[in-house]
Amino acid sequence: MHIDIITVHPELLAGPFDHSIMKRARDKGLLEVNLIDLRHYGQGKHLQVDDYQFGGGAGMVMMVEPLVNCIEALQKNRRYDEVIYLTPDGQRLEQRTCNRLSMKENLLMICGHYKGIDERVREHFVTLEISIGDYVLSGGELAAAVLVDALGRLLPGVLNDETSALFDSFQDDLLAPPVYTRPAEYRGWKVPDVLLGGNFAQIEAWRHEQALDRTRKRRPDLLSHDDE
Ligand code: ADE
Repeated sequence: MHIDIITVHPELLAGPFDHSIMKRARDKGLLEVNLIDLRHYGQGKHLQVDDYQFGGGAGMVMMVEPLVNCIEALQKNRRYDEVIYLTPDGQRLEQRTCNRLSMKENLLMICGHYKGIDERVREHFVTLEISIGDYVLSGGELAAAVLVDALGRLLPGVLNDETSALFDSFQDDLLAPPVYTRPAEYRGWKVPDVLLGGNFAQIEAWRHEQALDRTRKRRPDLLSHDDE
């Protein structure tokens, strides 16, 4: 998968993909992440990329022209499956969207700043708008990092145990069950007997029950999800 990210703060994204599973994905050639500094497309002496909003009001808006020049320059080299704008008013990111996007080849992500980007870019170039939650970040970069991480770990061959992403929370609209490791007893706190018994059918049944129970208590909304 190839991901291009347009940002005015590439330094914010310098770290997140250099460690752990994202590093492994990149080292294996399964994931390429390319940061594009929008300033290179800025206008005038000051390489301006934002301006006051029409109609007045506080806060700057990212200008249409630098963004369009940048997007069109990138589109000369690549056909994007989706042009994604990270924004608090986008559709809330869910695992099913991550699963769908993880099957794409080329993604372009646009990180907004200030009051957001000129609406005309959204109308004419953006194909998908994503929010990572109902709160406002100071820019789209951290949201883009979250999205890249959530997608990268789903790429075949990235996780050691290919099946392990299948058992993540949310994959079947259930939260994950509790997990334990050694020692089997610590300060008198015991690991449930069933996990020590070696009966895999029983263990699976216990895990499913725990997952259901946890979901009912913490996220009952997940249990009413309709399948797409
Ligand atoms: N940019 C600012 N806040 C955001 C959010 N919650 N999700 C995605 N992008 C954002």
